This record gives sequence, C-alpha cells and structure tokens, in this order.
Amino acid sequence: MPRILRWIAISLGSIVAVVIGIGLGLFALGKVKADELPEFTLQPPLIPSDRASIARGRHLAEAITLCTECHQNGLRGRKLDLPPLVGTLVAPNLTAGKGGVGGRYTAADWDRAVRHGIAKDGRKLVLMPSQYYARMTDSDFAALVSFLNSLTPVDNELPPSTIGPIGNALLGAGRFPFAADVVDHAEVGQNPVTPGVTEEYGSYLTTLANCRGCHGPDLRGTTGLIGDLRGTTRLIGPLTAPSLVDSTRSWSADEFRQTIRNGRMPSGRPLDPQKMPWPRLANLTDDELNAVFEYVRSISAP
Ligand code: HEC
Ligand code: HEC
Repeated sequence: MPRILRWIAISLGSIVAVVIGIGLGLFALGKVKADELPEFTLQPPLIPSDRASIARGRHLAEAITLCTECHQNGLRGRKLDLPPLVGTLVAPNLTAGKGGVGGRYTAADWDRAVRHGIAKDGRKLVLMPSQYYARMTDSDFAALVSFLNSLTPVDNELPPSTIGPIGNALLGAGRFPFAADVVDHAEVGQNPVTPGVTEEYGSYLTTLANCRGCHGPDLRGTTGLIGDLRGTTRLIGPLTAPSLVDSTRSWSADEFRQTIRNGRMPSGRPLDPQKMPWPRLANLTDDELNAVFEYVRSISAP
C-alpha cells in the first residue's frame, strides 16, 4: 500500500476510534444521568371535581399544554415517530383503560410526572416537556388533574419507551436533557399568576404552551439539529422556528390571533401544521392570545 494511503487509513482509523470512544463515553454518561434522581418534597394541591374545573383542565390539556399533541386525542397514548437508533418513545395511555396509567395515578403521582418529570416508577421521563409544565400554578395543575381523572377509559396497550444508543449519547452530551434535571423542584407551585390580558399572564401561557421549546426561551427563534423541538411528529431533524419578536413586529393583535387561528400569516403564507401546532393552539381564547401577543410585544428588539 502506498505510504500516503496507509497514512490516510491510519488517521481515518484513529478518527473512527475516537468517535466510537466518545460515543461510548456519552452513552455511558447518558445511562448514569438516567439513574441519578433529584430529591424534593411533593406538595400537590387538593384536586376538585366540579364541572368548571374539569372544563378548565380540558382546555389546558387540549389547547394550552398540548398533552393531546403527543398523548393523542382522548389521551389514549401513541408511539412517536423517531429513528430507531434514537429510541422507541411511547407517550403512554393516560386513561384508566387497559394499558393506561390513569387508574393507578394519585394526585402526587401526576405531580411527580407532569411538573417534576419523573414517572410513578421512578423513571426520569424523556421528551415530555415538564421543564415548562413545572411553571404550572397549583390551581391550573389541580384543574388539569380533575380533567385527567374524568377521562373516558380507553383500552390501548403500548410497549414501554426504550432509548437507543444515539438517544443515550444525546442525553449524555446534554443535548437533550432530562426535564427532571432542569426543573427547580422547590419552586414548583410557588408562583401564582392572575389570568388576564397582561404581559405576565402571556409569559406564563407562552411557557405552558411550549412556544419557548420551539421558538427559543426568549422567542427570538431557534435553529438546530434537534434543539428543544418537541410536540410534533417531526421531533428530531433539522428544524428551525422563526423569531416571534421579528415576525410580529408590524402585526396588530387581531392579525396575531388570525394567524394562530387560521394557520395563515397576514401575507397569506400558510403555516405547516406538522411543524407549528396551530390547529390545537387555535383553541386558545381571545384573551389568552391577546395576553401572549402583549408578552411578545413587550420583548424589545435588539
Ligand atoms: C412532546 C410530547 C409530550 C407532551 C406534550 C406531553 N407528554 Fe407526557 N409523555 C411523553 C412521553 C414520550 C412519555 C414517556 C416518556 C418515557 O417513558 O420516558 C410521557 C410520559 C407521561 C407520563 C408518565 C406515565 C408513566 O407512568 O409512564 C405522564 C403521567 C404524562 N406523560 C402526562 C402528560 C400530561 C398530563 C401532559 C400535558 C400536560 C403531557 N404528558 C404532555 C410525551 C409528551
Ligand atoms: C412544536 C414547535 C412549535 C411550538 C410548540 C410553537 N411553534 Fe410557532 N412555529 C413553529 C414553526 C416551525 C414555525 C414556522 C412554520 C412554517 O413556516 O410553516 C412557527 C411559526 C409561528 C408563527 C408564524 C411566524 C413566522 O414568521 O412564520 C407564529 C406567529 C407562531 N409560530 C407563534 C407561536 C406561538 C404564540 C406559540 C405558543 C402559543 C407557538 N408558536 C408554538 C414551531 C412551533
């Protein structure tokens, strides 16, 4: 073999070895991270069962927090479309039917899973955006659970989630952190907010509705290979979400509401529902959309 070829072969070989080494290291780190559990005390509020609370809970699950985007309508669960090496992620059946967790979950269990990112069996949840739900007030959380407890039982048995080697390496590299490692557990339920057409409430809704997960923590847009993009069927892949601060600069509140409601920009350009979950967000009330708009407008341009 000519010397130059041999040299190329050796350097390629060592690059491959280093890459495999890093991959294995990250894989191991991902496993370790999955086993370290944070310590905190659960303080779930009392769960009501009146109709107004259940209705608020339904609105939260279907229009605001987008539980139904992943766990499907009726929250009967589904397998998410991910490349097998990343993992087989299943958003479980949340009803009390066969294969569902609903019948077994107490208020404390819902709290541990939804606002702290840890399943009843102590598993740190992957992909489920608890880092945003951690912000949920006690009264909204109580309403959400009253709705979850009222779900019609649906029989839907699904396999458990498994994380593949690439998924583990991503976790190890911190590219896809467990929500349980990011949440400030002591702060959960400590920050009430009054509903209204205010920046403060708009900021709250923006957190719960995952707008930040896709459009960036400060809504100035994201680009990235996997980023924080959650919620849609295209969970992993090169995806970007525009800066809401820039897009909406010249819009009226009315144009903003119309864009989310109809999935069409003031310019007439349609929004792809596979990327931007507008068909669900379209159910936000006028006041809620106005509050989000107030908040977006309050973020001053650079
Ligand atoms: C982006 C997708 C996504 C959204 C949105 C989402 N989840 Fe999940 N959820 C998942 C996935 C995936 C799992 C399984 C994760 C795992 O096994 O590591 C899960 C797990 C759970 C579990 C744990 C059940 C168990 O014991 O295995 C509960 C409870 C739950 N979700 C409730 C909710 C509720 C309530 C909402 C809305 C407030 C919600 N989820 C929103 C994806 C999502
Ligand atoms: C799952 C990711 C995701 C979530 C959650 C999400 N968006 Fe989007 N959004 C996108 C993507 C991607 C686009 C670009 C879609 C396209 O061009 O077809 C977009 C487009 C938009 C646009 C049009 C702006 C433009 O210049 O294209 C607005 C307005 C918007 N989103 C507002 C919101 C608000 C408000 C929330 C929360 C209530 C939200 N989005 C939640 C991903 C998301």
